[in-house]
Amino acid sequence: VSDAASATDAAGESLEARSGGFETPRHVAIIMDGNGRWAAARGLPRVEGHRRGVEALRKTVRAARELGISYLTIFSFSSENWSRPKSEILDLLGLLRRFVRNDLADLHKSNVRVRIIGERADLDRDIRSLLEEAEGLTRDNSGLTLIVAFNYGARQEIARAAQRLAQEVAAGRMAAEAITPDLLTRNLDAPDVPDPDVIVRTSGEQRLSNFLLWQAAYSELVFVPINWPDFDRAALEGAIAEYRRRERRFGGLSGQTGS
Ligand code: IPE
Ligand code: IPE
Ligand code: MG
Repeated sequence: VSDAASATDAAGESLEARSGGFETPRHVAIIMDGNGRWAAARGLPRVEGHRRGVEALRKTVRAARELGISYLTIFSFSSENWSRPKSEILDLLGLLRRFVRNDLADLHKSNVRVRIIGERADLDRDIRSLLEEAEGLTRDNSGLTLIVAFNYGARQEIARAAQRLAQEVAAGRMAAEAITPDLLTRNLDAPDVPDPDVIVRTSGEQRLSNFLLWQAAYSELVFVPINWPDFDRAALEGAIAEYRRRERRFGGLSGQTGS
């Protein structure tokens, strides 16, 4: 079943009803960028931008639920962000800890299912157990799925999937020819999650920075000029409106003109 066809499935229909007959993306992914620039523009330390960024995240999660989005993926810390100054890394890890401690109960009450993608093996034990707690507590929730990309890099994710498949082949349990795009997808960090319909990046930068490279094959890319701390429901609605103006072809022909 293609993504295009999925707009008519049961979930899609109810989403459309709720959003006034317009197609709501099933999966929105966001590169939350520009916290540092937001702070610099106000003469504040970078950490203040990150703090305000957490508030923008709360607003965005609420808006995503209200708009009937099924999956929201947020890029919160990249594999490459370890190259930042130690003090900023500690600030970001501290904010993650606080976000889980303060917001997990509310997310759970709102029927949000939390999932984590990224490399967990090399994280501190306390962070790892917080992430596990968030996933465990919300495992059976049926509302919005919030996928947190933490210590995430798409190339690393793809390489991990390739390693798992190579081990199967080396052990004689699988033929190399059995490796297909679909099988590789099923070995990624969240194998059952549909590809993002739209990837939004704030702060005006127009690049993916190693985010969801495999899953982004046919995602619409929407770049918004505002910094992440200024993002809110209106900004999300604006990005979705831009997504709706796009024509997704998936390599086929235009539905409008047949050309
Ligand atoms: C996004 O804001 C947050 C993370 C990458 C963790 P930045 O910290 O990248 O802010 P800018 O890009 O320097 O403004
Ligand atoms: C991407 O933003 C990572 C996150 C938003 C977590 P960066 O600010 O790290 O990306 P670059 O370095 O500008 O490409
Ligand atoms: Mg940045």
